[in-house]
Amino acid sequence: MRNKFAFILILLIISYAVQAQSGSTSVTNLRCEYLENPLGVDVSNPRFSWMLIDNTLGAKQEAYQLLVSTDSLKVAKGIGDSWNSGKVNSDRILTSYSGEKLQPFTKYFWSVSVWNNSNEKAVSSVASFETGMMGMENWTGSWISDDKDIHEKAAPYFRKEFTTDKTIKSARVYVAAAGLHELYLNGERVGDHVLDPVYTRFDRRNLYVTFDVTHQLENGNNAIGILLGNGWYNHQSTAVWYFHKAPWRNRPAFCLDLRINYEDGTTEVINSGKDWKTSLSPVIFNSIYTAEHYDARLEQPGWCEPDFDDSKWNNVIYRSAPSQNIVSQMLHPIRHVQKIEAKSITKLNDTTYVFDIGRNIAGVSQITVAGGEGTILRLKHGERLYDDGHVDISNIDVHYRPTGDSDPFQTDIYILNGSGTETFMPRFNYKGFQYVEVTSNKALQLSKESLTAYFMHSDVPVAGKLETTNPTINRIWAATNNSYLSNLFGYPTDCPQREKNGWTGDAHIAIETGLYSFDGITIYEKWLADHRDEQQPNGVLPSIIPTDGWGYEWGNGPDWTSTIALIPWNIYLFYGDASLLEVCYENIKRYVDHITEISPSGTTTWGLGDWVPVKSKSPVELTSTCYYYADALILAKAAKLFNKAADAEKYVTLAQTIKKAFNDKFFHAETGIYASGTQTELSAPLYWGLVPEQDKGRVAAKLAERVEADNFHLDVGLLGQKAILNALSENGYAEVAYKVAAQETYPSWGWWMVNGATTLFENWDIDAQNDISMNHIMFGEIGAWLYKGLGGIYPDQNQPGFKNVLLKPSFISTLDGVEVSHQSPYGEIKSAWKHDRKSVLYSITIPANSTADFYIPAGYKIKKANDTISGNKIELVADENGKCKLQAGSYVLELL
Ligand code: BGC
Repeated sequence: MRNKFAFILILLIISYAVQAQSGSTSVTNLRCEYLENPLGVDVSNPRFSWMLIDNTLGAKQEAYQLLVSTDSLKVAKGIGDSWNSGKVNSDRILTSYSGEKLQPFTKYFWSVSVWNNSNEKAVSSVASFETGMMGMENWTGSWISDDKDIHEKAAPYFRKEFTTDKTIKSARVYVAAAGLHELYLNGERVGDHVLDPVYTRFDRRNLYVTFDVTHQLENGNNAIGILLGNGWYNHQSTAVWYFHKAPWRNRPAFCLDLRINYEDGTTEVINSGKDWKTSLSPVIFNSIYTAEHYDARLEQPGWCEPDFDDSKWNNVIYRSAPSQNIVSQMLHPIRHVQKIEAKSITKLNDTTYVFDIGRNIAGVSQITVAGGEGTILRLKHGERLYDDGHVDISNIDVHYRPTGDSDPFQTDIYILNGSGTETFMPRFNYKGFQYVEVTSNKALQLSKESLTAYFMHSDVPVAGKLETTNPTINRIWAATNNSYLSNLFGYPTDCPQREKNGWTGDAHIAIETGLYSFDGITIYEKWLADHRDEQQPNGVLPSIIPTDGWGYEWGNGPDWTSTIALIPWNIYLFYGDASLLEVCYENIKRYVDHITEISPSGTTTWGLGDWVPVKSKSPVELTSTCYYYADALILAKAAKLFNKAADAEKYVTLAQTIKKAFNDKFFHAETGIYASGTQTELSAPLYWGLVPEQDKGRVAAKLAERVEADNFHLDVGLLGQKAILNALSENGYAEVAYKVAAQETYPSWGWWMVNGATTLFENWDIDAQNDISMNHIMFGEIGAWLYKGLGGIYPDQNQPGFKNVLLKPSFISTLDGVEVSHQSPYGEIKSAWKHDRKSVLYSITIPANSTADFYIPAGYKIKKANDTISGNKIELVADENGKCKLQAGSYVLELL
């Protein structure tokens, strides 16, 4: 393994040397609203971001200039007639549009020029963004549906034919739906999104989706078709959180505008209205929560093609819009991101087969089969097997409250039409599973190739990599990412099977894990809009978001719903973009003020506490007050950032009051422990910064002792696991943290891996009887800690967005080496170390236009430092805290 690291290091050096010779400066990664060339931009001042690529040591952006025009040639020629920012002397790589008022349905082109600190200019290629509706008044379509009510089980088809007789230049379709939709043009599916639109509180905000359909339209006759699914809008399955009683519940409906621009400059709009026809589809039942039932005998070939005979189809009816706030879905969509072949098939008898896809995922399976007409297949999806080989769903169907047996949990039902080889994949649900049990009412031949699975999630770009010389750690990291993605469906969820709910606590636990590994800003900005939709005027938030109304009375204390502060704050730290924090400022304030109002003593008992602990229970008041304190601090910092001096002072004072009340109540100054000294009770105050400066060392030592007494095993729940590894490694006990992180016996993350986990579980005890979903993200902080505690990559709150990187690696004595990287807004940050006999070789990359503070790990001295671009030796001078300043570049250090 060591050889492998040495080899990689040499390769790195060579590759940088080669790049150095080219000495190029360029500007890439042009994003508008964090998306590449987006359609359907609805905001009046979209944000633009870019990245300077320059491998010169200390490369920096000195100035930039942005040009925007509706004419791409003009932009290429340096003319910005919609907006010319002028040359701005700034190192910022994020700015907002501030030119002529943007017009709806208009494609804008943009480019950015940057000047580096050698006054070399680089001009980007031309990127684009296209505006969408830009306001409710621009819709022309009507909201329509069929005349069925919420109890109708079959999903409705809608269709319309139209002709075009001029040359088409471009065409866009804008679709808003209450429920889910699949759109078709001339027999072809439009786009590759699934489960559109993503879930919102339908009676407050609806999302529309934009597609470019220029090439799917024909000159002449065309047919447009849409299939609507229930999603969370018409929840027909009965389960514990009462979604079947949601106030918005109704038969799905939609509104659509298809805008066709012709070469002659005219525009025609084909829209939803009374001239559409409707019919029930072969999707005879669909539930986001349970599954889909499909009767292939009811298929109507050609239903979304021209010249189809729809004379037997019904008329549509008008419906009122679900809300008056219909905005563009501007995010990375849910997709079938990864195709997974079945690893094995077991034939249990002539009518029963069990497929194993080899890993636990969120998604769907697709079956290809040949059989007689009317044969009924049931595909039951689960995470584990009974000893007799059948699929066991007893760990995940516990919140499901069926009223009959027609809606089995996680079980698709497919009825064959007998036409030959048939393929079925559900459209309007996803499940959490590794195994699929296929049963048939008639003997059937299936092979391993008959079933394929698709891992589904919001298709966010990857932003982090990690490899260590410890395979267990690598597996934990991969499992954490699998669970994170399995729980990202346009909002962060707790689990992909049992609930699929936007549990707030699980989401803030995972925010750093998510942002180190994935570029998830678009999902979080959407989800915080969901928060604003759900917040009571007095600041109270529900424990699940979005919600049908459940959750304002249970589980919604600051240990869960501090998402309102923690998510925007972390977005600010990782992206250097304060806009979400600013949009949520008043909401955070109302929230904190509410806690203050109900907590006159300065501490709060509002919350759930350290959920699913190993054994020790910690007072709710202790953990909840840590979150209350964190929120007050974030609010104080945000107030300062937005020049609200009075608020800044008010909330700094509040934070001090909370801290004092907390320490008065829980800290035992004589012994240096909090409460009774459990792992959570010591970790949470350390991690959230409530321990008085002079006592930190003692408390950390007590924590390390406690962990040692627990034989380097965890004794924490959801809140404790967020804090413990960080509390140890940030206070001088990185070796102890690593021992806990790499532990392979119960209770630990490694114990799950030893037992074959490919995702994280909900319970440390794999044989527990309750709370035993096998795909929960709530114990997932370790994913972030690996970047922080081992690789040492931290954002700097004083220069957020990794403008300055804090590098605080820990060279763990029992680990040979680590390589981590994070794709920050400035480019890739790398931190890789390996033990090499008595020394440690540490290689670092700091992207252009950013800097780093490298903290030399305690006990080490720099023996040699090289800039690997020029190959030259460099002098690194540490201050009294062991901090060295690094400019952008790549380095190899030898430390003793
Ligand atoms: C969820 C959790 C959640 C919890 C709140 C559970 O049912 O799956 O992850 O945070 O409830 O107590």
